[in-house]
Amino acid sequence: MSAAVATTGHAMRVGTARDHDRRIAEMFDRVSPRYDLLNRVLSLGTDRSWRRRAIAFARLGPGGRAVDVGAGTGDLTFALERRSAPGALVVAADLSKGMLDVATRRGRIRAIIANAESLPFADASLDRVITGFTVRNVGDLPRALREFRRVLRPGGRAVILELSHPRGRVFPFVYRFYFERVAPRIAVLFRGDAEAYRYLPKSLRVFPGAEALAGLLRDAGFADVRFERLTLGIAAIHVGEV
Ligand SMILES: C[S@@+](CC[C@H](N)C(=O)[O-])C[C@H]1O[C@@H](n2cnc3c(N)ncnc32)[C@H](O)[C@@H]1O
Repeated sequence: MSAAVATTGHAMRVGTARDHDRRIAEMFDRVSPRYDLLNRVLSLGTDRSWRRRAIAFARLGPGGRAVDVGAGTGDLTFALERRSAPGALVVAADLSKGMLDVATRRGRIRAIIANAESLPFADASLDRVITGFTVRNVGDLPRALREFRRVLRPGGRAVILELSHPRGRVFPFVYRFYFERVAPRIAVLFRGDAEAYRYLPKSLRVFPGAEALAGLLRDAGFADVRFERLTLGIAAIHVGEV
């Protein structure tokens, strides 16, 4: 493993871009069999309501087209298709084949192995980009956000659901203790990958706060950027229009 840690300022990238993406894909390949279970347990079920909220921003009209970037096991992909008008199509894109394999076993889905930083879609070809708990892992976040902007057509929208930095005087400490000390141990109890769950808090530490992420969306060319903090700021949904 390369000792060089190149901080992009937005994500914890270790080594070259290709190394970073390979490591992320391998890590998610490893966690894929336990991902859904651990997600529910470690988030104490709160992720479900966050996802519902994100879907409400992303619903597609008849014949609408969307990509779920970092779709993983497909929670948002399936939910968005279900909650959209007939004929809408949501493509699941992810770096990790292991995660997409779980998604394709869950139901009919169009899945592609792709990197958020270079999506295999034509300019202005989609109505929505939705992404959940993924942008924190991306090596070059500004580049990925420009890519989201590129593939969206006029009237299109990006909806980003991601962990954020809780606010308040006491809660952030409680949360940090849970996230950094308790969650990795619970992951081990559930035969999860402790290393992956130690990576989780590290990836969040260098991730921009909600205001800063909104700024990056504006820099990427999005208009009418807004965000909503969820559950005391543990997570946030950002929305940007084209
Ligand atoms: C924490 S999981 C979230 C999965 C799913 N969106 C959900 O809501 O449960 C993050 C996913 O992002 C994928 N990922 C990380 N970096 C990526 C990138 N640069 N391009 C595409 N997918 C990426 C990982 O492989 C993983 O499946």
